[in-house]
Amino acid sequence: AGLHAAAKASGKLYFGTAFDDPELSDLPFAALLNNTSDFGQITPGNAMKFDATHPTPTQYTLSRASSAVSLAAANGQLLRCHTLVWHSQLPGWITNPPTPWTNDTLTPVLQEHIHTLASAFKGRCAAWDVVNEALNEDGTWRDTVWYRTIGEAYVPLAFEVAAKADPSVKLYYNDYNIESEGAKAEGVRRIVKLVKDRGIPIHGVGLQAHLVSGSAPSTADLARVMVSYTALGVDAAITELDVRIKDADAGATAETRQATEYANVIKACKTVARCVGVTVWGISDRHSWVPGTFKGEGHALPWDKDLKKKPAYKAMIDAWMLG
Ligand code: G3I
Repeated sequence: AGLHAAAKASGKLYFGTAFDDPELSDLPFAALLNNTSDFGQITPGNAMKFDATHPTPTQYTLSRASSAVSLAAANGQLLRCHTLVWHSQLPGWITNPPTPWTNDTLTPVLQEHIHTLASAFKGRCAAWDVVNEALNEDGTWRDTVWYRTIGEAYVPLAFEVAAKADPSVKLYYNDYNIESEGAKAEGVRRIVKLVKDRGIPIHGVGLQAHLVSGSAPSTADLARVMVSYTALGVDAAITELDVRIKDADAGATAETRQATEYANVIKACKTVARCVGVTVWGISDRHSWVPGTFKGEGHALPWDKDLKKKPAYKAMIDAWMLG
């Protein structure tokens, strides 16, 4: 049995992975993605983002996103839809408008974008990452076009529009560096309360978990911070797990430590009743965002560049199955 089967046996909803559509032409790789014993859930890594779906004010391009929906349906995999409101991967018409945005001009754009995507995939997404990465490291609001123009009200507004468009989808706030207690974790709890206090639905916190080998959280720390979120009456999910290693350290010793760090995440999810599942941000080091963003780092995923399983794979299976 694979990773998803083991997660299910532990009472969780899924183990899954992100993928990017160009990767599907790598057929041996696609075979791994389509193996539902390992992956019972998929997340399109880029296809549903603003720049991919809404390139001009009046044009929606949903074909890549729709392919992801079809792939999930064909495989019987749950789909995490990603992401409606983010400061990155925005089209030029949002980042460089002919006249500066105002609350009155940007609010309807936000509403229409969310309404259009959430309606288009209504009933097909198990979860939507409604708002992504709205916080600075110190827990204050990130300076984005959304926050600058609309203020913090953009966050509850986004959840409200998404909920109306697809009443059955689970609505998530998703961020990174919220896997241990601290100012940013406090900011996440503030966001959950901000939405809930207005009577607007929010169903989950997504912990991206882009971890650094050697400073990954302990099982106890991760479980504790997840419980601090779920205590507010929402689910938690690990949404973008990877554990990066410096090129200089790469090798068997590093992979052994990485395996423990992956297993610790599984153990934390296992112990937190409302942790619904774990998603890795890619399958193989052959296709990973890490080396492109962090020079001299990589080796972050459970399968190596040759599509061979690394020690992290068995460590995660054992973490689901044992203890
Ligand atoms: O599409 C162009 C292609 O035409 C061009 O030839 C190529 C050359 O660099 O770039 C391609 O665009 C890249 C795009 O991925 C598609 O591959 C962008 O440069 C690249 O920046 C972009 O990276 C994505 C990144 O988000 C952007 O912020 C990664 O694939 C994607 O995995 C990553 O995902 C994010 C989550 O959405 C949010 N959390 C963090 C996570 C990792 O950064």
